[in-house]
Amino acid sequence: MGETLYPVPAAWAADALIDEARYREMYARSIEDPEGFWREQAQRIDWIRPFTRVKETSFHEADFGIAWFADGTLNLSANALDRHLAERGEAIAILWEPDDPAEPHREISYRALHADVCRFANLLKAKGVGRGDRVTIYLPMVPEAAVAMLACARIGAIHSIVFAGFSPDALAGRIVDCDSRIVLTADEGLRGGKRVRLKANVDEALAQCPGVETVIVLRRTGADVAMQPGRDIDWHDAVAAQSPDCPPEEMSAEDPLFILYTSGSTGKPKGVLHTTGGYSVWASITHQYVFDYRPGQVYWCAADIGWVTGHSYVVYGPLMNGATTVMFEGVPNWPDPSRFWQVVDKFGVEIFYGAPTALRALMREGDDWVTRTSRSTLRLLGSVGEPINPEAWEWYHKVVGEERCPIVDTWWQTETGGTMITPLPGATALKPGSATRPFFGVRPALLDNDGTEIEGAGNGCLVITDSWPGQMRTVWGDHERFFQTYFTTFAGQYFTGDGCRRDEDGYYWITGRIDDVINVSGHRMGTAEIESALVAHVSVAEAAVVGMPHDIKGQGIYAFVTTNADVEPDEALRRELIQWVRHEIGPIATPDVIQFAPALPKTRSGKIMRRILRKIGENDVSNLGDTSTLADPSVVDHLLANRPQLA
Ligand code: WT7
Repeated sequence: MGETLYPVPAAWAADALIDEARYREMYARSIEDPEGFWREQAQRIDWIRPFTRVKETSFHEADFGIAWFADGTLNLSANALDRHLAERGEAIAILWEPDDPAEPHREISYRALHADVCRFANLLKAKGVGRGDRVTIYLPMVPEAAVAMLACARIGAIHSIVFAGFSPDALAGRIVDCDSRIVLTADEGLRGGKRVRLKANVDEALAQCPGVETVIVLRRTGADVAMQPGRDIDWHDAVAAQSPDCPPEEMSAEDPLFILYTSGSTGKPKGVLHTTGGYSVWASITHQYVFDYRPGQVYWCAADIGWVTGHSYVVYGPLMNGATTVMFEGVPNWPDPSRFWQVVDKFGVEIFYGAPTALRALMREGDDWVTRTSRSTLRLLGSVGEPINPEAWEWYHKVVGEERCPIVDTWWQTETGGTMITPLPGATALKPGSATRPFFGVRPALLDNDGTEIEGAGNGCLVITDSWPGQMRTVWGDHERFFQTYFTTFAGQYFTGDGCRRDEDGYYWITGRIDDVINVSGHRMGTAEIESALVAHVSVAEAAVVGMPHDIKGQGIYAFVTTNADVEPDEALRRELIQWVRHEIGPIATPDVIQFAPALPKTRSGKIMRRILRKIGENDVSNLGDTSTLADPSVVDHLLANRPQLA
């Protein structure tokens, strides 16, 4: 691979918070003396009672456990709000840009946000929500979503945000799993000029959730929605009566902060649990150093709060650092493909953090949509969620950033709480497509399939060999699943699920998931979930789902479906199944290809040979590998002969 090296621009090297020498020194210290390093770094947080214990972690079965700063107490909302009031209370905390550019934007100061959070926290308390209670949030990208998160953190309630694009069924499953008795939603969401019927979805979901007693409904569009007396209350009416004064609860460092459901290779989505102290340290330190953030700069992470990126880098990280964080309700290509860059110009955005899938979609629309905007305030760009192909990287660098902005390609996961492998803009020479080097305290390793560590350059399974403060602590309600999922593939190591190459310079190149998880437009999906949605349809006997390369989405969804014997598969059924999956999970799970197959390739013991299906999905059929253990090899010939024509 003839890779280009982009050295750190001279101005960055001279002025950055972290330059190369400092990165090396701090990284070495963080590995050699994690206790000492984190004892110091954790001082960035205001602790109510200072911790004396730092790192108590083991990935081994005998003494498995993860705790950081365990005897310290703090409150995250106080760190994100109260601590800024004296010095920068009038500074803008949230700059909100609505879906429709014709609607006015909103500027919310730290002082105003603090008052809103206190009022809403008092409302939650009035509704009986207290420490440790779960609050499900199903809201669009509006400032009230951040208010709700911070209000939960303020009173010690655990929020569980469900992406507002998920279906009623998916929402219901998540409400039931963590036993929430309260749901926060809006009448409707707005995205790309389209309305999303959030309240109607909640009503449908709640038919399966008898435990929910309260629904607080934000008026976003003013649509006429059904309100169930005794259960549903109007957000603004209820909040108006509340006091803007709510003292923060004193939380232990290891008290739960939030649950966020994410897909794995098997079973239903897992409730990833993050706790208060370590997560606060991790979200704030990574935000500061990865983005070289200085107070006063306008910073924009274009992720939805329904994903972990929105948690750590729209809300918690930036607010703990006193940033002005842009919150965007809309989509990149509506009303036209200039939308992102118009918002950059409107607010004078200096740091922009987005997903490769959006960049690829915009790249296809031509440079003119970008170059007609100024973007002169931009100084740093970021990428997150999936591998960024060098072509999109080069376009981002040249056309969007006019070759003046470094790009931080940040590798991390819902489970890691914040960035793990990432350039630091003043320290790291860049290679397009590489997430480059580990952040402080992160010890990556590559293992071959037998678990033997690969030294130097090579390709293998990416594991992290020791704990870091932002690590998830458990799967909600299933600690055994947490241990089994992450620490048994390679005993004593955190297994990421990703494949990775390390080059001669020690740079990491994530090659993608090596388990049955696919990454569609930066959204993580378990193939098993889509399969179970498909087999829930009356006409379907069996289904197997694999990823396929997709120009814009990164990966698309390729489903092999065997219908029941009395069903003749046709175009109408194909369309019906696509709608079915959208309804069961949500539009992000829409299959790109459905191939009907009289049978799936199986071993004699009846196990589907997914390896073969993956190769067909990848259109890499010249060498399907060993097929001798198949029960009926002709099944593969039939699959190959009947592949749908792809556009
Ligand atoms: C999976 C995690 C990162 C937070 C949002 C997604 C893939 C993520 C990168 C990157 C290559 C990446 C990995 C990872 N991924 N960032 N910069 N380069 N791959 O979090 O939904 O938990 O997904 O996204 O495969 O395991 P997530």
